[in-house]
Amino acid sequence: MNGELGKSIALAAEVVASACSLVVFTGAGVSAESGIDTFRDAQTGLWSHFDPQQLASQAGFAADPGLVWRWYMHRLARVEQATPNPGHQALADLERLTPSLTLITQNVDDLHERAGNQRVLHLHGHIGRFHCNGCQTPYALQPDDYASPTPPQCMLCLDYVRPSVVWFGEILPEQALNQAWRAAEQCEVFLVIGTSGVVYPAAQLPLIAKRHGAHVIEINPEISALSDVADVTLRAPGGEALPRLVAEVGSQLRKDRTA
Ligand code: APR
Repeated sequence: MNGELGKSIALAAEVVASACSLVVFTGAGVSAESGIDTFRDAQTGLWSHFDPQQLASQAGFAADPGLVWRWYMHRLARVEQATPNPGHQALADLERLTPSLTLITQNVDDLHERAGNQRVLHLHGHIGRFHCNGCQTPYALQPDDYASPTPPQCMLCLDYVRPSVVWFGEILPEQALNQAWRAAEQCEVFLVIGTSGVVYPAAQLPLIAKRHGAHVIEINPEISALSDVADVTLRAPGGEALPRLVAEVGSQLRKDRTA
């Protein structure tokens, strides 16, 4: 690990270890090392010529429900085959070290939960949950649905079933958003990992934290729309920087306890 990154991690660990209230905010980048495509990297393979903004929308679903369904079944299979990476594991360790931690994610996968995080606020829903696009009745996915060329139909109203994710133009789950907003306003440290910071209202959260006096730390191998807001930047993949950061936070906390 280069010296610059090592220094930034030590600085970030000091700030995180001394925080009474900590928010972690993740985007697709935290799952990239588990083999799950991020949104703004070129879509790989057969989906490379489709625009996620087109597919993840009511208009896209109305235009071609089968195409949208097959895209989500492809993504869901990738999520189910994936395993949490060292970045996810480190965040579960961090929650055990700092009980005040609030984890807010834009991701629709369940890798944070599978890594062991207990309290995860999903702002953009869950790819493994389904409901009727018409009457909203929850739907339990059947084994045959994975290979179906078209979405299942609701037993009650016969409208199409869709994944319980937030599509472009739809409103975010109110309770999760309110809790996330409050956590961002009240936290002392806001750690943002693996997001381009271009999709609102989620991308507003680091700005709110900053405006309320929080220390903002960014982990991202690339510059993002949030990099200007960050007080400390770890320009590295989450799977590399997070285990190192959380190990240093642990040793800081042990030192503080014995001091
Ligand atoms: N570790 C950390 N960050 C990474 C890694 C990695 N290994 N690999 C890529 N990244 C960063 C990229 O540099 C980029 O800044 O992750 C970010 C991914 O950005 P996006 O693909 O835009 O994903 P995200 O920011 O989560 O998108 C937000 O937009 O498409 C909608 O609803 C969708 O929740 C999604 C939202």
